Amino acid sequence: MDINTKQITKAAEAINSNKLVVFPTETVYGIGANALNAEAVSKIFVAKRRPADNPLIIHIADKGKLRDLLSRDLKKIEQDLIDTFWPGPLTLILPKSEIVPDATTAGLETLAVRMPNHHLALALIDAAGIPIAAPSANISGKPSPTSDKSLDPELLASVEEVIVDGKTKHGLESTVVLVKNNVINILRPGAVSAEELEVIAPVIYPKSEVSISESPISPGNKYRHYAPEKQLLLFEYDEANKFIDDMQIYLRSNQASKIGVICAEEYMYQFPEAGRVINLGKIRSLPTIASSLFEILNSLDEFHQEFFLIHGVPEQGIGKAIMNRMRKAASPNS
Ligand code: TXA
Ligand code: MG
Repeated sequence: MDINTKQITKAAEAINSNKLVVFPTETVYGIGANALNAEAVSKIFVAKRRPADNPLIIHIADKGKLRDLLSRDLKKIEQDLIDTFWPGPLTLILPKSEIVPDATTAGLETLAVRMPNHHLALALIDAAGIPIAAPSANISGKPSPTSDKSLDPELLASVEEVIVDGKTKHGLESTVVLVKNNVINILRPGAVSAEELEVIAPVIYPKSEVSISESPISPGNKYRHYAPEKQLLLFEYDEANKFIDDMQIYLRSNQASKIGVICAEEYMYQFPEAGRVINLGKIRSLPTIASSLFEILNSLDEFHQEFFLIHGVPEQGIGKAIMNRMRKAASPNS
């Protein structure tokens, strides 16, 4: 047995003993437990300090294992989505069967499920022989870990095994969708874009922010999210590049050496007065920004700058999911 196989076997044993395992996926690292056992799942909520009314995503390694988790057959559009995007970063909301405990779905009659596209995640689920419930492996409210280096020691203290595989591919969580009246409703934008989903059926993108007083369709949306310890000031993107002027003016009218700027490679030369300039990726290639955003947010404490300016991106393709995460992580510049 090679090291990987040995570790997967040990981790699968931990899952089967209702203990926690941190593992990589193609989106972000997850903290997983036996999805069919309420006691196992409750350990995730404790380790993450996650509110008990925020349900988990169930991960499977075999499409054939889905039916047992559901109370009905898949509809055509649901099946088409699975055929097109699994394994991959698309999570479907579907009516759950009796075998899925309320603890996993936070009492909802529906569950969230996806088949990740990562060989170690798939090997783990397969070896465990049971579906694995796994939210992102961060303390609630913090940015999700997209590299083993950003895993929080406090969280790691409560898990039995940690499987590492460097940096994740997408760097943003899965897209969460619900198919209703033959329309795909995006409940959380993510690594699969609305444009990609539109090939299958019409897509509705909900009002981006759900207030706490409303009853949100995706419970996780109502919580503060992705926020680094240090304050981030967001300058929204505009075609005319006015945001660059605004950032420069902000730096000039404040003590620039104490301020860091997180910006696309193309604009880095625009901010010589800033205390530090961090490369966010390429504005011409939004996936590069998606894959580095959380890693940057998780690293800000290393720098001595007091707070950071960041700019938005065009809201096309993956840009929608990037802006969703940035707006939740940052305070607006106003
Ligand atoms: O990429 C991902 O999705 C990662 C990796 C580990 O797979 N997981 C992840 O899980 O991001 P988490 O727990 O951080 O986010 C799950 C989201 C939350 O917004 C939650 O409210 C929503 O999915 N969700 C879960 N079950 C739901 C349900 N039955 N109905 C509506 N939304 C649901
Ligand atoms: Mg999360």
